[in-house]
Amino acid sequence: MTMKIAVLPGDGIGTEIVAEAIKVLHVLREDFGLDMETEEALIGGAAYDATGTPFPEATLKLCQAADAVLLGAVGGPKWEPLDYSLRPERGLLGLRAELELFANLRPAILYPQLVAASTLKAEVVSGLDIMIIRELTGGIYFGQPRGRRVNADGEREGFNTLYYKESEIRRIGHIAFQTAQKRNRRLCSVDKANVLECTELWREVMIEVSKEYPDVELSHMYVDNAAMQLVRAPKQFDVMVTENMFGDILSDCAAMLTGSIGMLPSASLDKNGKGMFEPIHGSAPDITGQGVANPIATILSVAMMLRYSFNDAVNADRIEKAVTAALDAGYRTADIASQGTLKTGTSAMGDAIIAALRA
Ligand code: IPM
Ligand code: MG
Repeated sequence: MTMKIAVLPGDGIGTEIVAEAIKVLHVLREDFGLDMETEEALIGGAAYDATGTPFPEATLKLCQAADAVLLGAVGGPKWEPLDYSLRPERGLLGLRAELELFANLRPAILYPQLVAASTLKAEVVSGLDIMIIRELTGGIYFGQPRGRRVNADGEREGFNTLYYKESEIRRIGHIAFQTAQKRNRRLCSVDKANVLECTELWREVMIEVSKEYPDVELSHMYVDNAAMQLVRAPKQFDVMVTENMFGDILSDCAAMLTGSIGMLPSASLDKNGKGMFEPIHGSAPDITGQGVANPIATILSVAMMLRYSFNDAVNADRIEKAVTAALDAGYRTADIASQGTLKTGTSAMGDAIIAALRA
């Protein structure tokens, strides 16, 4: 059966990096029999400019009908003055909510070739392989009430709500334990149970879920300590599971351990394993249009798509090996460059990975 992939390049470097991922998909189709077709749609600021909304109905329809979604990035300074409801980010958050993509998998793996690109000492990060599981459709990102208002004293107020019901915690808990079972069987649940009732419930439910996974060792850590431990001794972690905003923050932090946020893919899955796949970085307005962005996170997101949504481990492995081979050959975009490597632009990096695929 032909797999349908909805492609949403979005804003900024989104279009540049997605173009490279599409090149890789085409090679897999032509040379390795991958049965897929792609269709593009608008999201984010690009959608707002063309249609007046960052999340057009046609885009939602296409994504609902597709087997998987590949997304570039959304946002940029141009749209910052807009009301929240019209910001590019609403497109991405709307998609996560509408498709119920509650499970966000963010692997942070350090390629041995990039040890020198990390700002941390080689002995701290070499061999790093962590999986951060971020709850993606609840927590403070979506809790009600939220908003801004002027209070009785004429002062402006802003407020958001950290809210979880236990079923939301339980379902991400199951994903986390099952992920840990396929890895080193250690799960660290990150919360702020010393201060926030909502995450006290989070901890309680994680402990309840753990009873069904006696082979996985569960530990708990406060989020402030977790941030510190990630830069102090990151290799202590195998799988981490946490609330939406904590996961947003910790995954950027983990990204830097690997040398560059330009290396990290992600999968956002619904309860049936259907998903959206995107690099964890943003639209990078500062380097947009220069042809220098690193396409690897997006290309590795395609590998995650093949693995998680299409059950195609063979082609997923092919992509991951080709990325390794391109790095071995010395190709480096600016974000991961170091002495003696070949300074490579976005499309040249895509070409290097394709050459390795075909080799
Ligand atoms: C991410 C991003 C998004 C988020 C933004 C672009 C809305 O930072 O995927 O980590 O905050 O979830
Ligand atoms: Mg983020």
